[in-house]
Amino acid sequence: MLFEGKRVLITGAASGIGRATAIKFAAEGAQVTIGDVNEAGLAETAGMMAGEPRVQTFDAADFASCRELVAVAAKDGLDVLCNVSGILKWGPSQDFAVEDFERVMRINTTSVFVLCQAAMPHLIESKGNIVNTASTASLQGIAYTIAYSASKHAVAAITKGLAIEFASKRVRVNAICPGQVNTAMGTAEPPPGDVDWSLVMRNAPKLENGICEPEDIAEMFAFLASDKARKVTGSLFTVDGGQLAG
Ligand SMILES: NC(=O)c1ccc[n+]([C@@H]2O[C@H](COP(=O)([O-])OP(=O)(O)OC[C@H]3O[C@@H](n4cnc5c(N)ncnc54)[C@H](O)[C@@H]3O)[C@@H](O)[C@H]2O)c1
Repeated sequence: MLFEGKRVLITGAASGIGRATAIKFAAEGAQVTIGDVNEAGLAETAGMMAGEPRVQTFDAADFASCRELVAVAAKDGLDVLCNVSGILKWGPSQDFAVEDFERVMRINTTSVFVLCQAAMPHLIESKGNIVNTASTASLQGIAYTIAYSASKHAVAAITKGLAIEFASKRVRVNAICPGQVNTAMGTAEPPPGDVDWSLVMRNAPKLENGICEPEDIAEMFAFLASDKARKVTGSLFTVDGGQLAG
């Protein structure tokens, strides 16, 4: 099995991509810790996983609880950190509250930095790796989605910067850029107000049935976190059915 004996922390595991990733790593033999703000969802995920996951609620907006999550996951060491938690709030920029902008940045970006920072000593010890969740919104501007897109551009920057800084310590850091994924977030209602939806949806998938399932993204997490990707660091991988192909 791909992750036999490996100790893996996965955030955002109460639903969607995080849940699928937790199920995948557990099936591949990993000792998985799952974290999320949604306690009921986490328990449901745990029931779907092989083995005995550690389950820890945390709030990404609360940095002390991010550090506590890492401490729980790394009690016996840590090989892989998968940052998946995130939120989407969108709407016309003219009316977008600065408080909402800052909350999106705090949960999607700053918490990722804090989690990486807390995990790094353990990953240096294990020569482990980090896989972050960026987005196709990391690679282009999207109307009515400025805060989210800014937060995901920043995740790409964190990924590449940490990859350079910790390469000599043999810690790899990569990110996945999903396109539209069939999850609560990926199927959210369009923003309210006076919006031109075609500006948001201008990159249709090119593949037939090109919208991704959470399991499609989990496959990429498993590849990047495994030794199969031992020469891969500082990279951003799109899994988007060809949305950004042109
Ligand atoms: N679905 C898509 O189309 C899509 C596309 C690109 C990137 N992504 C990214 O993938 C990741 C997973 O999203 P998803 O599509 O599975 O959506 P989702 O809403 O199903 O999952 C997001 C998870 O993050 C958790 N979360 C939210 N706020 C939190 C907080 N403060 N503290 C801890 N956990 C919190 C939620 O409880 C939820 O379990 C996110 O980072 C998202 O930005 C999603």
